[in-house]
Amino acid sequence: KKVVLAYSGGLDTSIILRWLQENYGCEVVTFTADLGQGEELEPARAKAEMMGASEIFVEDLREEFVRDYVFPMFRANALYEGVYLLGTSIARPLIAKRQIEIARQVGADAVAHGATGKGNDQVRFELGYYALEPGIKVVAPWREWDLNSRTKLIDYAEKHQIPIAKGKRGEAPYSTDANLLHISYEGRALEDPWVEPDEEMFTRSVSPAAAPDEPTYVEISFERGDAVAIDGEALTPAALLTRLNDLGGANGIGRLDLVENRFVGMKSRGVYETPGGTILLVAHRAMESLTLDRGASHLKDELMPRYAELIYNGFWFSPEREMLQALIDRSQENVTGTVRLKLFKGNVIVVGRKSPKSLYDEAFATFEADQVYDQRDAQGFIKLNALRLRLGARRGDRR
Ligand code: ARG
Ligand code: SIN
Repeated sequence: KKVVLAYSGGLDTSIILRWLQENYGCEVVTFTADLGQGEELEPARAKAEMMGASEIFVEDLREEFVRDYVFPMFRANALYEGVYLLGTSIARPLIAKRQIEIARQVGADAVAHGATGKGNDQVRFELGYYALEPGIKVVAPWREWDLNSRTKLIDYAEKHQIPIAKGKRGEAPYSTDANLLHISYEGRALEDPWVEPDEEMFTRSVSPAAAPDEPTYVEISFERGDAVAIDGEALTPAALLTRLNDLGGANGIGRLDLVENRFVGMKSRGVYETPGGTILLVAHRAMESLTLDRGASHLKDELMPRYAELIYNGFWFSPEREMLQALIDRSQENVTGTVRLKLFKGNVIVVGRKSPKSLYDEAFATFEADQVYDQRDAQGFIKLNALRLRLGARRGDRR
């Protein structure tokens, strides 16, 4: 009996590691991924070793994360409930996928995660597992054990020789989740949605008030819908997002405070910092404004909330997400060019865009050249569009 545990190296997943060994009497294989959360991974390896993990996987997945998950999602301009850039949601399918691959490799029959029974993450992990390995056994300790208070967790750790990092004895003021796209804060000090978070909570951005008084100009180049260069310098997906995070963070960009609807039914208050993603979304939309046909553009805008909801709810590996992705990817063929932005005190301001594939034609847009656009054509266009309105008016509608 073997189980592959998604292991962060923190106190909670360390308790899970021990709990699995004791309660399931199984070998525990740990999997720790670098998704750009900004933490050292070697301590997690050392801790897993010390706790008797039977095999230890530590992997840098930053490039795969941005290239195969974040970028495809940004082609859609995905936003959940109008504002949330899905930073946690989009990371879960990749973790689930690697866990299943490792389970196959080491001959494990089960996987485990440290998400609670109240949230979205359990759904995202497990839908991923089942979509990729239909017969897999899933262990979610938070839904099974009775360690339902901080005191019980600490007691358990002490009884089972699990090291507790200094300062980890008291409860952290927030629950956080971080990767290259964002960091999230939820719970505890943030539970009252009327109470503003402390400025000290934020880790990826300065307050807009403290941002520089001079704007920062930046140019982002796109190829077929994906960002490929900053200020003319070609960058890998992860390097590019890292650079945008630095630029955004320094200019107070990408903070969000919202009450969102979890898939499991409750509302929850979350605060997010997504500096690079916030810049990328604005830049991508500006690139599309020049290069996408109106019908294509409006269709993808209509489908976007549906696509975002699928990702939020954990249906990355589903036929309907893949169908929408095919449509979105097809729309990006000509989304190539460069966008010029001004970053200033929390704002991302588009100041220029250019493209070799532009549909924008100054000859059409200006009011002079009547050779390309005959203004007399507009009369019939309007008359026919008005026909049904006139029929309605004759009947007395709107009188
Ligand atoms: N509410 C956000 C989401 O559902 C963030 C979840 C954060 N997860 C966590 N384990 N702290 O995507
Ligand atoms: C959790 O409950 O594990 C984190 C929050 C969420 O998944 O929505």
